[in-house]
Amino acid sequence: MSGGGDVTRQQQSVPPTSAPHIPVLLNEVVDALRPQAGEVMVDGTFGAGGYSRALLEAADCAVIAIDRDPNTQSHADILSADFGARFSYLSGCFGDMQDLLAAPVDGVTLDLGVSSMQLDEAARGFSFMRDGPLDMRMSQDGLSAADLLNEAAPELLSDVIAVYGEERRARAIVKAIMARRDDRPLRRTGDLVDVVCSVLGAPRFGKAHPATRTFQALRIYLNDELGELMRGLQAAEQVLKPGGRLAVVTFHSLEDRMVKQFLSPRTGRAGRPSRHLPDIEMAAPSFNDGVKRSLKAGAAETDLNPRARSARLRVAVRTAASAFAAETDLLPKRAPKLGAM
Ligand SMILES: C[S@@+](CC[C@H](N)C(=O)[O-])C[C@H]1O[C@@H](n2cnc3c(N)ncnc32)[C@H](O)[C@@H]1O
Repeated sequence: MSGGGDVTRQQQSVPPTSAPHIPVLLNEVVDALRPQAGEVMVDGTFGAGGYSRALLEAADCAVIAIDRDPNTQSHADILSADFGARFSYLSGCFGDMQDLLAAPVDGVTLDLGVSSMQLDEAARGFSFMRDGPLDMRMSQDGLSAADLLNEAAPELLSDVIAVYGEERRARAIVKAIMARRDDRPLRRTGDLVDVVCSVLGAPRFGKAHPATRTFQALRIYLNDELGELMRGLQAAEQVLKPGGRLAVVTFHSLEDRMVKQFLSPRTGRAGRPSRHLPDIEMAAPSFNDGVKRSLKAGAAETDLNPRARSARLRVAVRTAASAFAAETDLLPKRAPKLGAM
């Protein structure tokens, strides 16, 4: 699963023991990337390697996989054993793709968020369903959730939970966090669940868990997920050859909106600001639409994998035109910056 932000799916479908990650929209992603013999594809979110394996099986192509989580190395070793030199693995962030890659490529895919393995391992601290340390760091370094919750200013915590969690009761939750940490620090995911439920009430059957939005918000902030997405999209525009394909799978509206806003001017859909304004020179589109609208998983897939319910796939094909200037206004308004603490 990717868990961009829809932690609702954790509540609905996390199995009691660690289960293999089921790739979401797999056939659609392979169709969108259309790998050909001799081409090079980048899987920017390797995880358990579901996309990489399917691409390597679909054509005699090469795959360069990237993941920021060092635990994914063991899955990469399996693909190296199966596919030899056609597969390579880079430890790092897809936002740094341009620096990581030596040459232009024919396809880039991103499957955002966290994997089932990350959610299922209590020690990673991603899930409100499993008691573990308040960690939530994909790359296992930097600020942890415990650091943030116990040390950040209340204004920052409120912005994080309100903007990245789209949580209406952010201020009340932060008030409860401050009261709790004045007494003793929050250390476990269970501590945070208790605090959130003290404000929003106990979990109710058939409803999203009350801690869903708060966990989502902290994870997005701590891993700078939206900043990474913006840099990853801009890097993909730079590294894709003319005719190269981009396929991005998102899991919540903040991410999908960013991909849409990135592609809109680049596919020429944004148009002129106003027909009453003097003609301004419009940059040539750097992408063509791969599909007009986003694709969603069908009933057959969501029945098997409820985590696919919130997935959206957007596809675009690189043209020969120059890349657009990098922008920063793809990020949501009031988005707190990592390191602002
Ligand atoms: C949803 S999983 C991908 C699953 C994969 N498609 C599969 O079939 O197994 C997302 C993976 O992307 C990684 N990831 C998330 N953000 C990243 C980033 N900015 N750079 C590199 N890897 C990232 C996570 O560590 C996780 O392993």
